[in-house]
Amino acid sequence: MTSPPLLKAADLSKQFGDFKALDGVSLALEAGQIHAIIGPNGAGKSTCLNCITGLLNPTRGMVHFEGLRIDTVPPHQRARMGLARSFQITSIFNGLTVGENVQLALMAQRGDCRQLFTAAGRRHWIEVLDLLQSVGIAEMVERPSAELAAGDRKRLEFAIALAGKPKVLLLDEPTAGMSVSERSIVIEILRRLARERGIGVLFTEHDIDMVFDNADCITVLHQGRLLAFGLPVEVRRDARVQQVYLGEGDDA
Ligand SMILES: Nc1ncnc2c1ncn2[C@@H]1O[C@H](COP(=O)(O)OP(=O)(O)OP(=O)(O)O)[C@@H](O)[C@H]1O
Ligand SMILES: [Mg+2]
Repeated sequence: MTSPPLLKAADLSKQFGDFKALDGVSLALEAGQIHAIIGPNGAGKSTCLNCITGLLNPTRGMVHFEGLRIDTVPPHQRARMGLARSFQITSIFNGLTVGENVQLALMAQRGDCRQLFTAAGRRHWIEVLDLLQSVGIAEMVERPSAELAAGDRKRLEFAIALAGKPKVLLLDEPTAGMSVSERSIVIEILRRLARERGIGVLFTEHDIDMVFDNADCITVLHQGRLLAFGLPVEVRRDARVQQVYLGEGDDA
């Protein structure tokens, strides 16, 4: 008997009034897999992710995580189970250094809250350095967080998320607003986290060339529906996908 996928969404639908933003979409994510959701503006990508994280309640459909049904579980509990989502408003405290931000996340994760108001010193520092190392910014440990460039801020966000030992990362446009070189660094880190820590990564992305080069599998949404699914090579040559992208421009 094969084990169930790490994360599975089945027949997921979300209606806003009469409008179907998401209509019967199913997808699965395995441990260590990079799964991208692409599609033109308004295709339903964010709605799909938000139904999985619990930010939105789906009108119909189910979400399973490690074989357990979670679509009725509150978002904070889903996070504790191992589903981490990146927040559009970042969870970085600008007044703290890079290292202190990760330290705070580790302390909060362990219920060390008593300590938050006293000097934390070098508590958990080896782990702090280890997490920063895994996102490639260990040398920035003493830098004030406010000074970080966009790509490095994103790396710090990942390190903060990793403090919670997530099994899945759910990311809505993690490379938005970044330069091409920053984008490729972020994608490379996601690949490393998937490979080395077995984390499943489900993310939306507008840069389809980046997705074709880096994702293990791709779900294409169009007008709320599943248009195509498969390996990058399969999706790239799918006539319906080509039509949607040619019809609506390369940046969509
Ligand atoms: N809260 C809401 N109320 C009404 N309509 C909504 C709401 N949220 C999203 N929509 C609509 O649902 C559709 C899908 O939106 P969604 O944000 O999921 O698209 P997307 O694929 O993430 O687009 P983008 O590429 O621009 O981020 C859009 O037409 C959007 O206007
Ligand atoms: Mg979106």
